[in-house]
Amino acid sequence: MADNLDLINRARAAFPHITPAIPDFNALDDKGGDSFTAIRDTASILSMTNDLIPPLYQRADATDERVLEWVDALVGLAKPNQFSRVPYLKGGPSLLLLGATGVGKTHQAYGALRRLSIVGIGCGPVAASITDVFAKMRPRPGVDSEAVFEAYASAPLAFIDDLGAAKVTEWTEEVTYRLVNHRYEHQLPTIFTSNAAPKDLGERVGERVASRLMEMAQRVAIKGDDRRRQGRAA
Ligand SMILES: Nc1ncnc2c1ncn2[C@@H]1O[C@H](COP(=O)(O)OP(=O)(O)OP(=O)(O)O)[C@@H](O)[C@H]1O
Ligand SMILES: [Mg+2]
Repeated sequence: MADNLDLINRARAAFPHITPAIPDFNALDDKGGDSFTAIRDTASILSMTNDLIPPLYQRADATDERVLEWVDALVGLAKPNQFSRVPYLKGGPSLLLLGATGVGKTHQAYGALRRLSIVGIGCGPVAASITDVFAKMRPRPGVDSEAVFEAYASAPLAFIDDLGAAKVTEWTEEVTYRLVNHRYEHQLPTIFTSNAAPKDLGERVGERVASRLMEMAQRVAIKGDDRRRQGRAA
């Protein structure tokens, strides 16, 4: 309990500009809530997201206004658990971050996941580059490809990085379509990113995937230079 509260307080101190869904756990008991469960579940939301984020993006924060609006929209749609009052994500819009190499798409995406965890929204997130999803799914002895697929297709919140980055084969096309289509049909919030220029998206990911992305996701073009090359000799 003390460890959990410590984790929550440290996370909140690092993001003083974010208003948590449950700012004061002590006040919950007076309102018929269950502060013990709320603290345990809020701490678990934070550690699940921390465990998901690679070291390079551990301190990422979302700063793009359109990304922040999307985070706010999801917070607004989350439904509080009857007992703990901890809000859980129940569907919502998706986000498609487009932009050239190194402009900060992955940074904004992990920043958005972090923000949702600091607010304290339960969403069982998964995150991976689509190329890693393909690699984990490749049929081989001892691997249940469908179980891997299910984990990414059905998570209440997913971050699928680098759409259209892998070499296209019939198999990658089918997996991408099934993944996007499942999340589209179930209205599961997803952050997608791609290096493709908007006009080339259909060609890179397939027209049926691009059509679904256009309907399900708010499209955000991130502009700028390659941050990886900034400050270095050309
Ligand atoms: N707002 C930011 N503040 C500080 N560093 C940032 C910011 N955005 C990105 N970076 C850093 O810039 C580098 C490139 O960012 P990122 O990996 O997000 O780019 P990307 O658009 O996803 O590139 P790619 O298309 O190659 O995947 C990384 O080292 C990242 O940590
Ligand atoms: Mg990236």
